[in-house]
Amino acid sequence: MAARSAMLTLLLSAILAVGGAAAAKAESSGKLRQGFYSHSCPRAEQLVARYARRHVPRSPSLAATLLRTHFHDCFVRGCDASVLLNGRKKNNGEAEKEAAPNLTLRGFAFLDGAKALVEEECPGVVSCADVLALAARDAVAAIGGPFWKVPTGRRDGRVSRKQEALDQIPAPTMNFTALLASFRSKGLELPDLVWLSGAHTIGIAHCDSFGERLYNFTGRGGAGDADPSLDTAYAATLRRTKCATPTDNTTIVEMDPGSFLTFDLGYYRGLLKRRGLFQSDAALITDAAARADVESVAKGPPEVFFQVFARSMVRLGMVGVKTGAQGEIRRHCAVVNG
Ligand code: HEM
Ligand SMILES: *[C@@H]1O[C@H](CO)[C@@H](O)[C@H](O)[C@H]1NC(C)=O
Ligand SMILES: *[C@@H]1O[C@H](CO)[C@@H](O)[C@H](O)[C@H]1NC(C)=O
Ligand SMILES: *[C@@H]1O[C@H](CO)[C@@H](O)[C@H](O)[C@H]1NC(C)=O
Ligand SMILES: *[C@@H]1O[C@H](CO)[C@@H](O)[C@H](O)[C@H]1NC(C)=O
Repeated sequence: MAARSAMLTLLLSAILAVGGAAAAKAESSGKLRQGFYSHSCPRAEQLVARYARRHVPRSPSLAATLLRTHFHDCFVRGCDASVLLNGRKKNNGEAEKEAAPNLTLRGFAFLDGAKALVEEECPGVVSCADVLALAARDAVAAIGGPFWKVPTGRRDGRVSRKQEALDQIPAPTMNFTALLASFRSKGLELPDLVWLSGAHTIGIAHCDSFGERLYNFTGRGGAGDADPSLDTAYAATLRRTKCATPTDNTTIVEMDPGSFLTFDLGYYRGLLKRRGLFQSDAALITDAAARADVESVAKGPPEVFFQVFARSMVRLGMVGVKTGAQGEIRRHCAVVNG
């Protein structure tokens, strides 16, 4: 027992050292702080957590939706809840939201519910960006996933453009170089890319997000034109039982088959069996340093994954935040204040 825990500590410190320097930099430049609402709205965090504990067990797929929504928010204009704004005439009705897949809509309703609770308690105090950051954390915790501390004090943005989401959210067809460049452009580093991609241990994807890997990898077309880096048997199963065409946008596939509602090591173990669903997943084992991280975390125990994931989530939650007098505290998350 003692030996095992010593091993775990060793492994953890080895893994954490990789992201350590970069993490320190992000933490000192962040203007968020733990318990930002402890005087202005002491029960804010508790209200969101309770709301998650009440709703997520009945709809566990919400955890994936909320986690992804938080990621998308942070990658466009920083974590400022711009992802929650409806389109307005001013931008031809085309907000970031319009670039989001349909399932995300249930997440928006959940967030509106959580925001309504904190508004009732302390009107105009708690930002939508913080509600989203807290809700993503609490929903993941509610399905037995990792828990991380969420520094708060984010302010809400007033602008949301669909095109910016299309340009800045990494595509599932990206190779390692492009993915790392995307993360670095947000102040994140290689370990963050590896650990945050582990979010794909929960949730689902539509066939058209990876269909070209099954049918049309080089543009020749047909089942003979699959991505050679994808396990052949797995590709055949996906073609036979799930994705009838590369552009099927209705059928969904579990990204970590068999445990898509459980935060576990299945994603990383799948990568090593060449069963990562997207090219962007498969890309993580094409780089020596990233592959070494994948191999080390895949061995377990899961606590190591939880710990490194939690750290990278805190870093993700700091990307481009608005604080102080910037932005506003939106009253309704879908519309800017009048
Ligand atoms: C590294 C670059 C990434 C790419 C290219 C990527 C791409 C995608 C794509 C294409 C989907 C499926 C969408 C669909 O077909 O419906 C997806 C789902 C998902 N992504 Fe990522 N993602 C990335 C990183 C992340 C990060 C950093 C997180 C969170 C920390 C995340 C969390 C999720 C979750 C939880 C789902 C499942 C959503 C659901 O079940 O509703 N992803 N991602
Ligand atoms: C979203 O899904 C619902 C239920 O499956 C469907 O009725 C609706 O038309 C979809 N909306 C869009 C924009 O695809
Ligand atoms: C990665 O993708 C980029 C953009 O598509 C491309 O220019 C580059 O050559 C690719 N790199 C590798 C190593 O395949
Ligand atoms: C296959 O890819 C090529 C080139 O990207 C494209 O022109 C063609 O329409 C695709 N075929 C199918 C069936 O999607
Ligand atoms: C799915 O594809 C059909 C046919 O190409 C298209 O009309 C529809 O808008 C697509 N739906 C979504 C949600 O992208």
